[in-house]
Amino acid sequence: MENNRGSWNSNIGFLLAAIGSAVGLGNIWGFPYKMGRSGGFTFLLVYIFLAVFVGLIIMASELALGRKTRKAPIAAYKAVSSKYSWLGWLAVISPFLIMTFYSVLGGYCIYYIIINIIGLFGGMPDGSSFGVMLTSIPASVGVLLAFMAICFIIVAGGVSGGIEKFNKVGMPALFVMLVIIIIRALTLPNAVEGLKFMFVPGYAVRGGFIEEAPSLITILGDAGGQMFFSLSLAMGAMITYGSYLSKEENLVKNSGIIVFADTLVALLAGIAVIPAAVANGINNGIPVSEISLGGPKLLFVTLQDVFHNMGALGGVFGIIFFLLVLLAAISSAISLMEVLSAHFIDKAAEEGREISRKSVVLKVSVVITIIGALVAADGLGSNGFAPVDLLKNEMAGWNDCWLDFFDCWSEGIMMPLGAMLMALMIGGEIGPKVMLDEIHNGEHSPFFSRFYRFCVIYIVPAVMCLVLAGQLTGFFGNQIVSYIISAVCFIIFTYHTLIPDWKKLGQEGNE
Ligand code: PHE
Repeated sequence: MENNRGSWNSNIGFLLAAIGSAVGLGNIWGFPYKMGRSGGFTFLLVYIFLAVFVGLIIMASELALGRKTRKAPIAAYKAVSSKYSWLGWLAVISPFLIMTFYSVLGGYCIYYIIINIIGLFGGMPDGSSFGVMLTSIPASVGVLLAFMAICFIIVAGGVSGGIEKFNKVGMPALFVMLVIIIIRALTLPNAVEGLKFMFVPGYAVRGGFIEEAPSLITILGDAGGQMFFSLSLAMGAMITYGSYLSKEENLVKNSGIIVFADTLVALLAGIAVIPAAVANGINNGIPVSEISLGGPKLLFVTLQDVFHNMGALGGVFGIIFFLLVLLAAISSAISLMEVLSAHFIDKAAEEGREISRKSVVLKVSVVITIIGALVAADGLGSNGFAPVDLLKNEMAGWNDCWLDFFDCWSEGIMMPLGAMLMALMIGGEIGPKVMLDEIHNGEHSPFFSRFYRFCVIYIVPAVMCLVLAGQLTGFFGNQIVSYIISAVCFIIFTYHTLIPDWKKLGQEGNE
């Protein structure tokens, strides 16, 4: 049954791969900015609370679901609950949608490595390179192809031969590069202002970075969305990685390590990126309110300006920095591709068909590249065929470019819905015991069991309602309507959980 699926060579190999999936663009440009904007320490506390009470629970559940069933998401959900089998589709469609733009952003890193290398020989590029790249369709699509080729080679190499091998070298390298960039950033004059933005409560407003601090409810939605994306949850990634994990490994400890490492890297990335951006702005007389500290501009405009202004060694730091971001992007992208590839590989095995991993990964890569090419050619809405241009209907942020459009569906809607449903399925349908048996696998920890039950039944669904509402507000603008939609979804899905499942397939083998 399990024959050709592949498995990790060691627990540390698995851990590095899972941390690689978690550590990505989300850590580098999402976390530090959201933390600063949302009152520094307040955001950090909310984030840690959510990571422990929600992230850790979903992480352990996903790893357990994968390991218990030894299957990719669609088949895994089907195996534990007939009523929730459709949930697996969410966990496969959203990684596909995320990949369509993640690959484009990964391509941008390659472009920036190239221009910084060229810059070493004179004419160091500045932030205006971003506009040039976005409007040059061949360049954007070209680097997308390069990024996808790298991911193809790694994923085609297999679970231990490709993904594990890459992360075993890539993750330590990323860490070393991060330390180099932190040292450089913190030695810039005025870097301390950036640290204050991130860590001092209320400084973002007092220091003039933003006009007003977001409300606690906005922070909760923001931190929750960020936490999910950053930990690679509700995207099938951890189910898939868990399905290759040996029964001996301790899932509680592993989940804790992944959550801790991801949060640590997000903080370190913040300490590398924000002080550099702020210092460079202040040193060049730019008002702090005008420094772009969030979104793609932070990396590709603000930081490139930093490297431009650094003088002789600027290009070297530029290369190290974008290489670091590229590694983070690749290690996350390959986990997204593995979710899709594993689905087809498992399906073929189930139907008794011979199928080569290479050909599956190739097909997956080609389809992603085709849609990715649309996102790349759109250039964040620069080239006149963004959804908003076609629909002629402007609304908050969901349709101003193809990237936001795909992001809205995946990160904004499917991800919070998927996690809410997963918690309802565990709490109300199959019962926490089924998951706990797999999580503990023999040695029971009564404390964790109680903690798990409490969180999965009460905390996770409630938080997911807030996160869904927060995401909908972010994309569509209207807070009240977003909360109503979120509450209606919750009620419908709770009802769905409570009506009896006549087939009772979910109970099979769970005694
Ligand atoms: N966690 C990755 C990041 O922080 C993104 C990601 C999400 C990767 C979901 C895999 C699955 O950028």
